[in-house]
Amino acid sequence: MSRHVVCPAAELPPGARKVVVVDGREIGVFNVEGRLHALLNRCPHGGAAICSGVVTGLSQSSGPGDYRLERRGEFLRCPWHGWEFDMATGQSWCDPRRTKVRSFEVKLEAGSDLVMGPYVAERYPVTVEDAYVVVDF
Ligand code: FES
Repeated sequence: MSRHVVCPAAELPPGARKVVVVDGREIGVFNVEGRLHALLNRCPHGGAAICSGVVTGLSQSSGPGDYRLERRGEFLRCPWHGWEFDMATGQSWCDPRRTKVRSFEVKLEAGSDLVMGPYVAERYPVTVEDAYVVVDF
């Protein structure tokens, strides 16, 4: 897994979305009330640019005339045929066993951590003994 910096956090406040290209793939990054989601911008049903769809919730009903919207902000509705996908997992709500939008891990990181990076070169102890520099390994 490789890490990619998408944008400064200030460019993705709650309610915002941004489509970026990472390694040739379009990925939509969403901030839903502080929860971050990242999905491939391609609907697995028919190939639509799904990240331009409506962020919504899950309609529930116990019978005719009774309905309520639950899990607000947790689903993305495809703009072409209206299939809905759980934004956290990419799972389809229409065809949960076979259809899934690819989702990616996304998180906020401090800029100082990005500058330092995760890489550390291997080092060896160096001493001066008499008139000689000595490396131990
Ligand atoms: S292309 Fe997305 S629901 Fe059909």
